[in-house]
Amino acid sequence: MAYEPEKKAKFDHDYFRDQFRQCKQLNASEIDLQNFNNQTFKLHKADQPTSVKEICARRCLSLGLKPTSSWKVTALAGYAGFYLIQNSLHDLAKWFWILRALVDFTQYPIKSNLTSEAALSSHRFPWKHYDPHFRKTKSSNEKKQPIERLRWTTLGYQYNWETKKYYSGHYVDFPSDLARLCGFYVDCLDLDPQKHYNPQTAIVNFYPEGSTLGIHCDNLEWDSTSPLVSISLAHSAVFLLGEADRTREPIRLLLNSGDVVIMTNSCRQRFHAVPKIFITDNMNKEDFEQSKLEFAEEAQEFNFSDSENLISDGMKRFSDEDVEKAIEYIRTRRINLNVRQLKKLNEPTPSNCEEIDPRLSSIDGQIVNEF
Ligand code: SIN
Repeated sequence: MAYEPEKKAKFDHDYFRDQFRQCKQLNASEIDLQNFNNQTFKLHKADQPTSVKEICARRCLSLGLKPTSSWKVTALAGYAGFYLIQNSLHDLAKWFWILRALVDFTQYPIKSNLTSEAALSSHRFPWKHYDPHFRKTKSSNEKKQPIERLRWTTLGYQYNWETKKYYSGHYVDFPSDLARLCGFYVDCLDLDPQKHYNPQTAIVNFYPEGSTLGIHCDNLEWDSTSPLVSISLAHSAVFLLGEADRTREPIRLLLNSGDVVIMTNSCRQRFHAVPKIFITDNMNKEDFEQSKLEFAEEAQEFNFSDSENLISDGMKRFSDEDVEKAIEYIRTRRINLNVRQLKKLNEPTPSNCEEIDPRLSSIDGQIVNEF
């Protein structure tokens, strides 16, 4: 991704910045969140509904997904390459990805905004050291716990936010389950007819209430045309999508938990941003237990063996304590899994980058490159 700091705007009037500032001030009690997207949909909805492949319900459920016939896919007229997929993830699958993000995608040697402090175990393994009752038991002027200061981590090829580059030598195995899920979405929308899609990197964004993500476009990947798949979890966010410059107002959408955005081809050049987080989702213990029951009932119909279902199988790895901690953590937070393909399959890395084949440099999932 490439950030364009406000002061560097190269045009007379920055309409994107105006809209960003306005949205930042929005107050949940003053707007109708249920109908937030309607105006944008009405103005820009494509005439033709986006077709989604019909995939058998069993295959969908094996990935924690509802049948493709119940997904709602919106493509916006004038915004080629942009897709919003709603109602595709089962509730338990949302929990699974939240837990995966918090428990697994925060662990050293995965790089994060805490990495510079990573000599401390509490910064390398912020989840393990997270005590959700910390504030209740210790004096209130204690500093925030590392997990509360965590803003991003990177999976696969690691992004360096200082140089704004990806480095092929900094590699942590890309999670195969996440690659499968994203590949499934891309395939269902038929966005990769040549079968080249291969996600290799992801930025996991952790948004506390009140935080924002600045105006940027995602064109730093060497392959900046392949689909970028972005999965929203927990609380909601206003997402602004503009043009390749900032001379027109961006459109605004509310992204809720489980919503998936895909941006592909020219859409990757469009500026976008997250100016506002709204506390909307009620993900508590009852909700978790209910989604477990519902998922188990549905999965029973298809008689999955343990290893056949990504979600039921994967959930076993998380302890009750992980779930309790996650419930506390996401009380006021949003998580976004932002998955990209860095380079086309079999394409050499550009000459200004030293190529180290990640598969050769990682042994049994152990990372050999330290930061
Ligand atoms: C991003 O553009 O990198 C993140 C978008 C989001 O959080 O929805």
